[in-house]
Amino acid sequence: MSKSNQTIQTLLLAAVSLDGKISTGDHQSFSSPEDKRHFFASVETCDGCVFGSGSFEEDPSWMLHELMPGKPRVVVTRKAEAYRQRYPEGETLKFLGDDPGPILDWLSAQGCRKVALLGGGHVYSVFFRHQLVDRALITLEPLVLGEGTPFCREACETHLCLRKVENLNPNTLLLDFAPKEN
Ligand SMILES: NC(=O)c1ccc[n+]([C@@H]2O[C@H](COP(=O)([O-])OP(=O)(O)OC[C@H]3O[C@@H](n4cnc5c(N)ncnc54)[C@H](OP(=O)(O)O)[C@@H]3O)[C@@H](O)[C@H]2O)c1
Repeated sequence: MSKSNQTIQTLLLAAVSLDGKISTGDHQSFSSPEDKRHFFASVETCDGCVFGSGSFEEDPSWMLHELMPGKPRVVVTRKAEAYRQRYPEGETLKFLGDDPGPILDWLSAQGCRKVALLGGGHVYSVFFRHQLVDRALITLEPLVLGEGTPFCREACETHLCLRKVENLNPNTLLLDFAPKEN
């Protein structure tokens, strides 16, 4: 699938440790208060979002009701039918496999024009692999974890252009990337 047939824009948001992890071995968040503020300000600019069931399962109630309330969200899973039994789908919730085409088509059909790609490592890989990331805001946090969930779980080679660097606090950098022009 190519981006050319999509009118929807994608914004990838991630907080990453210096060794490229997005969560600790016990799946705890490690990002700074400044990153959390940046995260909420960024999702406010979006009108829908995508995240994987791995992230969803850490706090389903928050992911369904408190994150971007009232806005459409897709949960990526191989077990869509089972999830539908537990969480009825509607205009703001859809369970889909990891093919980005139907994900973006459904969000587009709900009226979304800009969607946040919220991870985790499987979802980031899929959208990078299909060259479907229009902008990536990556927070680099000053810690090394050694184990934990990798930023990208599968092969997805993608080359990006660094557009801007900002200090969120004296130790934390926000890296603003766009796709590399060919
Ligand atoms: N630091 C950050 O910015 C950040 C952001 C987001 C998440 N996280 C962390 O990342 C971790 C989760 O990341 P993750 O990589 O484990 O999971 P994920 O990307 O959140 O979810 C991926 C899900 O995709 C499904 N899947 C796997 N292969 C598939 C396939 N071939 N087709 C369709 N679906 C497929 C699996 O769900 P099923 O098993 O249901 O099929 C899997 O749970 C959590 O600890 C979370 O806290 C960190």
